[in-house]
Amino acid sequence: MYLTKEEERMLNSENETIRKCMEILVAVGETNDAERLVEITSAHISGVSYDNIGDAGLEWLESLDGRVRVPTTLNPAGMDLKRWREMGISEDFYENQMKVLEVFEKLGVEIVLTCTPYYLSRPKFGEHIAWAESSAIVYANSIIGARTNRECGPCALAAAIIGKTPYYGLHIKENRAPTITVKIKGNLAAAGYIGGKELKDEIPYFVFEREVEEWELKLLGAALAASGNTVMFHAEGITPEWEDFEKPSEKIEISGELKAECEPDLITIGCPHTSGQELETILKLLDGRKVKKEFWIFTSRKVFSEKRDVVKKLETLGVKVFNDTCMVVSPATQRFECVMVNSGKAFNYLPSMRKVNVAFGNLKRCVEEAVKG
Ligand code: F3S
Repeated sequence: MYLTKEEERMLNSENETIRKCMEILVAVGETNDAERLVEITSAHISGVSYDNIGDAGLEWLESLDGRVRVPTTLNPAGMDLKRWREMGISEDFYENQMKVLEVFEKLGVEIVLTCTPYYLSRPKFGEHIAWAESSAIVYANSIIGARTNRECGPCALAAAIIGKTPYYGLHIKENRAPTITVKIKGNLAAAGYIGGKELKDEIPYFVFEREVEEWELKLLGAALAASGNTVMFHAEGITPEWEDFEKPSEKIEISGELKAECEPDLITIGCPHTSGQELETILKLLDGRKVKKEFWIFTSRKVFSEKRDVVKKLETLGVKVFNDTCMVVSPATQRFECVMVNSGKAFNYLPSMRKVNVAFGNLKRCVEEAVKG
């Protein structure tokens, strides 16, 4: 892989962190036949919850000595930084999680803990970025038209510290062409969960039979990336690059129907983190009715403060709106028996990561379940 003089200097730097970061980028680049590195405008790092990275991850982070060169955000942590006690998080866990965040802060990373960084600051069309959160990667590539490969957590951090990432895969326009036409019916989150297993590495060209909301596309992408390897999709008439390539001739149909029942003792929304529009929709669906079951919504602190009035009304009805974390990366959900979700991604991960049973329903059904008692 071609390296500029400055990149070569960094590869031989006396600073171990810079040297190691360059080694990671060069290794990833060479494995993927990248010709060179490309400058990035932002990075997003996953692997933030202490529950996921543990002491080994914390030690590695503590050994780093450097600063990020581009605006860098973080994925959700294992708890709401303010309301962790209310979530049932232990003092020990809190302290370890805070150590992880302190290290990131020293590296210059913004302590905004969300998997929807695009609601905070939206990359521009065509920009090269290095993101490591599968749902955000699909969103950025598909809905925004920014360019990122599926970066691993340490790879995104290395890219943030160097300010560059290897130029291959989805950074190159011709690799972004759709490979299969997929007609989608029914619930998009369920279709994503089912489709991910079937589509694996394909770049689907979706055709919908009805108008879809932005947040439904977000749920679709997240589920596709969780049960499969999807990094990007096109949606006819919607996504910015849908007309740029020939429409694939191979066609399949996916029906978004997921039957998964258990009696929920917790209902969770916000995988990926909710937008303001979703918060408003939930409030509308509740229509003044109080919830009779634990009903948790996960969002980013930015959306939370922008929609403070909506959040207040939701909380008056008994809903808990948490920030900085989610039902999958927080250990808080594992004390429940059956968790109901409207997310194909949470549906995919909750049983293995939190050892709970999962029920699936659309947003309306989740709300009805919560008020039913
Ligand atoms: Fe986000 Fe957690 Fe889902 S990080 S995409 S809410 S699993």
